[in-house]
Amino acid sequence: MINKKSKIFVTGHKGLVGSSIVKKLSKLGFKNVITRTKSQLDLRNQIKVENFFKKNKPEYIINSAAKVGGIFANERYPADFLYDNLQIQNNIIHCCYKFKAKDVIFLGSSCIYPRLAKQPIKEQYLLTGKLEVTNEAYAIAKIAGIKLCESFNKQYKTNFKCLMPSNTYGPRDSYDKFNSHFLPAIIRKVYEAKKKHKKYITLWGSGKAKREMVFVDDIAEACIFF
Ligand SMILES: NC(=O)c1ccc[n+]([C@@H]2O[C@H](COP(=O)([O-])OP(=O)(O)OC[C@H]3O[C@@H](n4cnc5c(N)ncnc54)[C@H](OP(=O)(O)O)[C@@H]3O)[C@@H](O)[C@H]2O)c1
Repeated sequence: MINKKSKIFVTGHKGLVGSSIVKKLSKLGFKNVITRTKSQLDLRNQIKVENFFKKNKPEYIINSAAKVGGIFANERYPADFLYDNLQIQNNIIHCCYKFKAKDVIFLGSSCIYPRLAKQPIKEQYLLTGKLEVTNEAYAIAKIAGIKLCESFNKQYKTNFKCLMPSNTYGPRDSYDKFNSHFLPAIIRKVYEAKKKHKKYITLWGSGKAKREMVFVDDIAEACIFF
């Protein structure tokens, strides 16, 4: 059973989701939370990740490190989105099995579901239709991560868990002009328009698409709960 001294490795702790998880764990009194920045441990590097696990033996892993971005970044860097995410998750999930971690949370994304999936989306709709093309590479990596967890669970009786958040927002989000997500991109546009006394902003798309949003601290709570 997890306790306040358990070794918990939170990857991507400088990011939107990871930073919220670390904050919440600390508030709850967990004393042994391990973090590494990308420059300290590039999770794409199999040997370095294996050495890290061998040395530190984390018991619980919440994997919130990933190559993440909005429509612009996804369209522009599909190779990075596919390669980086496959590497990161393969290394983490395999090490969790190899070094007998007690549990791992793998964070995917709701974009794994078909673009025209019936609403509300149900788990069984996975792989029943075409993905949204703009983030296909990212979604395929995430689907591979889910299937990897599922396959380890099936073959080796592990209990790896996958959570699929929808559009996430909150403190420490990226407001980058090109790489930000839907909500921070709108916040930036409104902020800049206000500063320049502009009367309108231009948004992408037809305006017909519907999005589901989740506050980042709620995701952190869910990760810790699971
Ligand atoms: N944000 C959303 O709307 C959303 C929605 C659904 C699911 N998710 C999922 O939630 C998780 C966290 O997303 P987020 O929004 O928190 O992303 P984020 O703010 O971009 O944070 C990602 C973190 O991962 C780190 N990272 C990236 N590549 C790495 C590597 N090769 N080695 C080590 N660390 C690396 C980044 O470090 P650097 O900053 O140094 O690169 C950053 O700290 C991801 O799995 C994402 O798919 C997010």
